[in-house]
Amino acid sequence: MHNKLASKHLPVKPYSTGRTVPVRELHAGHRKEILQHLLQLNAEDRRLRFGTQTPDEVIQRYVERLDFNKDTIFGVFDLNLRLIGMAHLAYLPKIEGQVRAAEFGVSVLPVGRSLGVGTALLQRSAVHSRNTCIKNLHVHCLSSNKAMMHLAQKAGMSIEYAHGDADAYLKLLPANPSTIVQEAANVQWADMDYALKENLKRSNQAWWWFLGKPKLAP
Ligand SMILES: CC(C)(COP(=O)(O)OP(=O)(O)OC[C@H]1O[C@@H](n2cnc3c(N)ncnc32)[C@H](O)[C@@H]1OP(=O)(O)O)[C@@H](O)C(=O)NCCC(=O)NCCS
Repeated sequence: MHNKLASKHLPVKPYSTGRTVPVRELHAGHRKEILQHLLQLNAEDRRLRFGTQTPDEVIQRYVERLDFNKDTIFGVFDLNLRLIGMAHLAYLPKIEGQVRAAEFGVSVLPVGRSLGVGTALLQRSAVHSRNTCIKNLHVHCLSSNKAMMHLAQKAGMSIEYAHGDADAYLKLLPANPSTIVQEAANVQWADMDYALKENLKRSNQAWWWFLGKPKLAP
């Protein structure tokens, strides 16, 4: 199968939108946004994301324990700087004689789905993995998770099934100058996008303070 994400010429455009989705690396200061994002997922989405029923307290503990020095968390923000998509790239422990691997987990709020956000998070994570010497990218999901299976297949991942679970693997090529430049360009683009949205939000708030917030049509 053609391995789109592992190939030399990584696609930068998400398929459905025809434009690049800015993906930002998150830090410990984003814990509140991450928590809010995950708490907005309904019971079924939480089951698909974490593989089991996941009450609020478990999500709270998961967010508190996120280690931003060890793992990498990526996010996509909407115009109001709401975190509509996030991916957790967890580096698996080094095992003697085995290639380095990372696990990818992702969630997109229903309002942001089918716009290429999940694809962009997977692409960004794959490029970052290559640039940090990861050779295998794993996704563990339920085989009933049609959207995630579709994303994995589209990325050229090999999929193994067992007991209703699916393990998708993407073998990654080593980093090269193009992946380094691609990641640097993504960082710049996402920073610029965030700054623009921040300014827009501030100026909107200033106008609303003067004029009153416009009421949305029912
Ligand atoms: C899986 C998930 C991250 C996808 O996010 P997204 O932003 O909608 O992803 P994209 O828009 O990049 O791509 C979705 C693709 O799946 C397709 N899709 C969506 N629902 C589908 C379904 N039920 N069956 C088949 N394909 C489906 C879309 O048409 C789109 O395909 P295309 O790009 O070829 O048009 C999102 O649905 C989600 O957060 N689900 C809940 C949590 C979860 O399942 N996480 C994954 C386990 S770690």
